[in-house]
Amino acid sequence: MTSTVGGFSSGAAIAITQLRHTFTTSSGPVIVFDEVNGAIEGGEFVAILGPSGCGKSTLLRIVAGLLRPSAGSVSIDRLAVTKPSRDIGMVFQEDPLLEWRTVIQNVLLPAEIKGLKKRDVIERASELLGQVGLGDFLDARPSQLSGGMKQRVAICQALAYEPRLLLMDEPFGALDALTRRQMQFDLQDLWTGIRNTVLFVTHGIDEAVLLADRVLVMSPRPSRIVKEYVIDLPRPRTSGTARSAEYLAIVKDIEELFETLGVLHDEKSAAAGGARHA
Ligand SMILES: Nc1ncnc2c1ncn2[C@@H]1O[C@H](COP(=O)(O)OP(=O)(O)OP(=O)(O)O)[C@@H](O)[C@H]1O
Ligand SMILES: [Mg+2]
Repeated sequence: MTSTVGGFSSGAAIAITQLRHTFTTSSGPVIVFDEVNGAIEGGEFVAILGPSGCGKSTLLRIVAGLLRPSAGSVSIDRLAVTKPSRDIGMVFQEDPLLEWRTVIQNVLLPAEIKGLKKRDVIERASELLGQVGLGDFLDARPSQLSGGMKQRVAICQALAYEPRLLLMDEPFGALDALTRRQMQFDLQDLWTGIRNTVLFVTHGIDEAVLLADRVLVMSPRPSRIVKEYVIDLPRPRTSGTARSAEYLAIVKDIEELFETLGVLHDEKSAAAGGARHA
């Protein structure tokens, strides 16, 4: 189970087996996944990349126990997921903060719901907030914060009780490019101290390659995991990493895969004979 607060927490292992999901809508069935399989090791940082509508959020909701799949199963540490678990931290794109609570009170909320002793978590929560530059904002209200600051609070909230599994659904999607890059490094720093398992959904090829140990690429609907990339760039990853030839080569490879899948189109270069990436 979860480690003591402030202690070392190893991550949860996830097994996804023959997962299928179909939504029934008024205009007929929407087949989201055909068949998704995968194994994620404890402590791995895995990014899931795929076109809009391919089912990334649906997959996260199934792993979180918020949605029952039509067929197949997900297990976390060999236990089948059947309902939401408080041992899973979640950060989604939408702003999850409660306006009537201060920053520190927001961060403490999941721990309160879990019934942990406030005194045990408060130190950890303050430490995390300090680490992401919010040490002077513990008593501020969410409305006094910028979008990036709120997103930092949301990440600290999910990490304050050191969940063994952290699910993130495009957590930085709404941020400008500079803030997003800063948040990526902040997340890396926090994760390095905890080393829990992270499932990170993103549209950003660059973001996936910069952060993850492994990138799973999903095809358009009905989707499957069509390819996985092991990213063995040295850690900690830095701005230099994002300029390195190895990094750029992986990003280019994934872009080309999306072109092959018909997800990325570049009409002008296609008309000029397909000389992309020249
Ligand atoms: N509750 C629902 N009822 C019916 N259809 C749904 C429901 N939720 C999602 N879908 C459909 O399932 C498909 C997958 O949706 P999902 O939100 O998982 O995609 P996504 O990969 O997260 O997309 P995005 O990158 O745009 O967030 C889409 O076609 C969507 O319209
Ligand atoms: Mg989504």
